[in-house]
Amino acid sequence: MMFSLRRFGLHGGVLCIASMSASVANAYSMNVANCPGYTLGSLVESSNGLTARLTLTGPGCNAFGQDIAELTIQVAYQSSSTLRVKIFDTAQEQFTIPESVIARPSAPAESYTGISDLVFNYDPSPFAFWITRRCEPDAMPLFDTRISSLPQTPIAPLNSSDPSTAFDAFPLIFEDQYLQVASALPYDTNIYGLGEAIASSGFRRDMGTNGGTGTIQTNWNRDIKDPIDENMYGSHPIYMEHRFNEITNKSTSSGVLLLSSAGADIFLQSPPDSNVSFIEYRMIGGILDFYFFSGPTPSDVIAQYGAIIGYPMWQPVWGFGFHLCRWGYSSIWDVEDVVARMRAANIPLEVQWTDIDLYHAHRDFTTDPVNFPGDEVARFVSELAANNQYYIPIVDAAIAVAVNSTDMYDPFTSGVEQDVWIKNPDGSLYIGEVWPGYTVFPDWFSANVQSFWTEALKNWSELGVGFSGIWLDMNEASSFCGYSCGTGANFSALVPLDESGRVLTAWPECYNATKWGSSGNMDIDGVSTNSCTTNSTTTTTVVKRDIAAGQEAGFYINDPPYKIHNGFGPLSNHTLATNATHQGGYVELDVHNMFGLMEEKTTHLALKELFPKQRPFLISRSTFPSSGKWTGHWLGDNYSKWQYMYLSIQGILQFQIYQIPMVGADTCGFYDNTDEELCTRWMQLSAFTPFYRNHNTLGAIPQEPYRWPSVAEASRTVIAIRYALLPYWYTLFANASLAGLPTVRALFYEFPDEPELFAIDRQWLMGRDILVTPVLTPGATTVEGIFPGRGGVIWRDWYTHAVVNATPGDLTTLDAPIGHINVHIRDNAALLLHHCPAYTIAETRAGPYALLVSLSKTGSALGTAYLDDGISPPPTPNRTVTFDVANSVLTIKTSGTYVVESKLAMVTILGAAGPCVVTVQGQLVSTWSYSASAEELVVYDLAIDLGEDGTNISWQ
Ligand code: GLC
Repeated sequence: MMFSLRRFGLHGGVLCIASMSASVANAYSMNVANCPGYTLGSLVESSNGLTARLTLTGPGCNAFGQDIAELTIQVAYQSSSTLRVKIFDTAQEQFTIPESVIARPSAPAESYTGISDLVFNYDPSPFAFWITRRCEPDAMPLFDTRISSLPQTPIAPLNSSDPSTAFDAFPLIFEDQYLQVASALPYDTNIYGLGEAIASSGFRRDMGTNGGTGTIQTNWNRDIKDPIDENMYGSHPIYMEHRFNEITNKSTSSGVLLLSSAGADIFLQSPPDSNVSFIEYRMIGGILDFYFFSGPTPSDVIAQYGAIIGYPMWQPVWGFGFHLCRWGYSSIWDVEDVVARMRAANIPLEVQWTDIDLYHAHRDFTTDPVNFPGDEVARFVSELAANNQYYIPIVDAAIAVAVNSTDMYDPFTSGVEQDVWIKNPDGSLYIGEVWPGYTVFPDWFSANVQSFWTEALKNWSELGVGFSGIWLDMNEASSFCGYSCGTGANFSALVPLDESGRVLTAWPECYNATKWGSSGNMDIDGVSTNSCTTNSTTTTTVVKRDIAAGQEAGFYINDPPYKIHNGFGPLSNHTLATNATHQGGYVELDVHNMFGLMEEKTTHLALKELFPKQRPFLISRSTFPSSGKWTGHWLGDNYSKWQYMYLSIQGILQFQIYQIPMVGADTCGFYDNTDEELCTRWMQLSAFTPFYRNHNTLGAIPQEPYRWPSVAEASRTVIAIRYALLPYWYTLFANASLAGLPTVRALFYEFPDEPELFAIDRQWLMGRDILVTPVLTPGATTVEGIFPGRGGVIWRDWYTHAVVNATPGDLTTLDAPIGHINVHIRDNAALLLHHCPAYTIAETRAGPYALLVSLSKTGSALGTAYLDDGISPPPTPNRTVTFDVANSVLTIKTSGTYVVESKLAMVTILGAAGPCVVTVQGQLVSTWSYSASAEELVVYDLAIDLGEDGTNISWQ
C-alpha cells in the first residue's frame, strides 16, 4: 500500500498505525512511528555557513531513549570541496569526540559560501536537509534526508525474529540513546567503505539489489577472528559513493563521513518495489557530525577525507621490507634460527617479529627468563641491527594485575600509583581477563597515561627489547570475561592462559591430507598439479551473520535500548563493559570505538619521544578515523584459506579509503594450517600490498617462506620485484602523507567511467601505473583479469615487457604457472626503480637506480619520484624528481635539498621506435641496445646524478 510519508510531519497529521501493513507494525516501528521531527528556527547566517535552532515539533516519541527537545545545527563550508553539517543537543550533554583525540581543521579564514562545490538545502519543518552539487542543482542530491525522497513503502523486517530490520521513512530522531537519520541514494549505486568489514558482497557494498540482502554495518569494535558480514576490530563510518550516469556514461564520486564513535548500525537497503536505495544511520548516542566531500574522482574523495581527519603518518622506508612473525616460537634461539634460515635460503628478511611467546607469564613489557632472557634478546636485536635488519615485539592492551604482595610487576603497580587504569563506576579498578589472567586496562584519557606508557616502553627497551617498532594487539579492547570479573576476586586464582599443547589440523580448501600428509608439502614444482576444482571463493568456515544477533532485553548504560547488531550480542561481551569509566567523566559506552586509536596515538608519541630522530613504525589491530596518523594496520586473524586470500584484497582497498594505507594481511594465513600452494600464491600476492608480513598462529605447521622450495623460489622473485619498486611505493606513500592520495587503488579510481570495473576486487592498482592480477584459486595455471582503459591504454608485462593483447572491457586469460604472478605496467608511465634489489632495504638503497618508461601511443610518459633518507621524521630534506618523455626525449627535472648518492644507471624505454643514435646530454653514446620485437630501448652504463636538473636523453 502506498501512503504519504509526510503523515508524521507537522502538517501531515498522524495516520493510524493500524493502516500500516501488519509486517511493520512491530516493536521497532511502533517505537519510532510517532517521532515528531524538528522545526528549524532562529537561523543566523555567517560568512562560512549558518547556525540555527531545531525544536522538537511535538511530544517526544522516546523510541529508544529520551527525545532531546532542543538542538543546534551548524553548517560550515570548510573548503571548496568539503561541507560540514553538525547537529548537536544545544545543552551539549551528548558525547562529542574531543579535539584532543581527533583534531579537526578549524573554520577557514576565507568564505566558501556561494562558491563551494556543494550546497546545503533544507526544509524547516519537519526539518530535513539535502546536499547538492552546485553545478547540478536539479540532479538527485548526494545526500537527502527528506522523507519524501525515501522509499514510500514500509519494508518488512529482513528477518522475522529481528523487528529492527524493518524500515520506514521518518523525520530526524535525536534522543539521548538513539539517533536516526536516513538518506536516499540512487538505486543500486556504488558504495564503498563503511567498515571495518569483510563483506560477502566484496569491496562494493551490498545494496540489497540483484539478489543481495543489503548491508548492516555495525560499528562496535570487537576482537573476533575475521568474520564475514559482521562487526570486527575497527569502525570507520565513512563511505564513498561512485555514481554512474547512464545517459552521459560519466561518473562522479562523493563521500560522507559521520564522525561519531557511538555504537551504530548503518543500513544499506533497496526496497523491492522502489526505484531508490537508501542509507540509514541508527546510533546509540553522541551527535550527528557529518562531513560531505564533493570529489569528483575517487582519489579526490579519499584525499578530502584525509584533509579533515589527518593524513597518514610517514613510514620509515624499512617498513616496506618483508616482515616475518609467528605465534609459537619456542625461544629466542628458535627465532634466531629462523632468521638464519631465511638468509641461508636467500629470502630477504627485513623485520623479525615476536608474539606473546616473548613475555614472562604473558605479561606486557617483560621477557621470559628461560626462553627469551633479556640479554639474549638484546644480543639478537643488535645482531639484526648490524645486518640492517629490524625487530618488532607485540604489546597487548591489557596489563596483568600483580597477584599478591610478593609479585613484583612494576607496570601494574606504577600504573596504580599514577592512576592510569580504567575504573568501575564506584572508582575501583576495572579488572577484566586477557592472556595473563586478571588485567587492568590503560585509560587513555587519564592525565598521566602518556608519561606512564612512554616510561614502560623505555624500561622494556632498556631491559634488552630493542624494538624498532611496536605491534599493538587486543585493543578493541579484548577481555575474556564478563564485566569487571576481577573485582573482589582472588587474583592468583586465575593463571595465565596455557595453550601450549594446541595443534591445528584444518587445511586450505582442496588440500588432500591423506595424499600429502601433514607437512603442507604438495606435488608442485614449477607447475601446479593440485587438481581440486572447488570454487574456493564460495566455501567458508564462517557463516554469514545471524541477523538477530544482539537481541536482548535491558536498559541504559549496560544495555542501551536500541540493540545494534553486535556479533557478540550484548555490547559488553568479550570487551570492556559499557559502564567502565574514564577520567574526564567519559564512559566506555561512548568511547569504546576509540580505544585502539587512543592507544596508537599514545604509543606513537612515546616512540617519537624515545627515538626523536626516527619515524615511528606501528601496526595495530583496532582502528578508527585518524588512526592512520599514528599507525598502520593488519587485517587481523584470518584463515589459511584461498577464500581469505581473496578477501584480503577488499580489506586493503577499504583501508585506503580510511586513510590507513599501510595495511596488509597475515600472509599464508593465520588460523589453521597453510599448504605449499596457498602459501606460494599468498607470498606473491602480498608482495604487491603495502604491509607485507607472514604471520602464523600457535599450533599450526610452520609457514616461513623457506619451508617449501616453491614458496622460497616464488618469494625470492617477488621480493626482488618489490624492492625494485620501492622508490615507486615510497613516492605513493609520500603522496599519501602529503596529500591523502590512496596508494593502492581499485581499478575504477583510475578509470571512473568504466562500469565493468566498479565491482572488481580480484585485481588492484599500485598507484596509477602497476596492475596486479593474482591467482586466487587452487590448482590454477591461468588467471583471468581485466585490463582497464577499454583498449585505449597499452598494458605491458612486467617480466617480458610485451604488450598485452587484452579484450577491451572484458576478461583476458593470462598464463599463471605456480611461480608467476601477473604484473602489468600502464602506458604513459615513468617508474624510478632500484636497479639491484638486495637482501635488505639499506643495501638495496645503496645501489644504483634504474628508470622504466612505458610510452603511450603518442610516445609520451610522465613520472615523479619522491626521495629522502627514509628514516628522519619530516620535515626533512627531500627531493622530487620528474621524468618527462616527449618526442623521443627524456628530460629529468629535479628540485629539493636532499642529496641523492645513488646514480641512475640504466634507462629502459618501452614502446620506442628503433633509433639510429642515442645521446645523453647532447653527447652521442654507444651504451645502448634495442630490441625491435619488444620495442625496447635500453641505455646502460649511465651515472646520472638525480640532483642535477635538466638532464636529458634522446633517441632518434
Ligand atoms: C591475537 C592476534 C594475533 C596474535 C595472537 C597472540 O589473536 O590477532 O595476531 O598472534 O593474538 O598474541
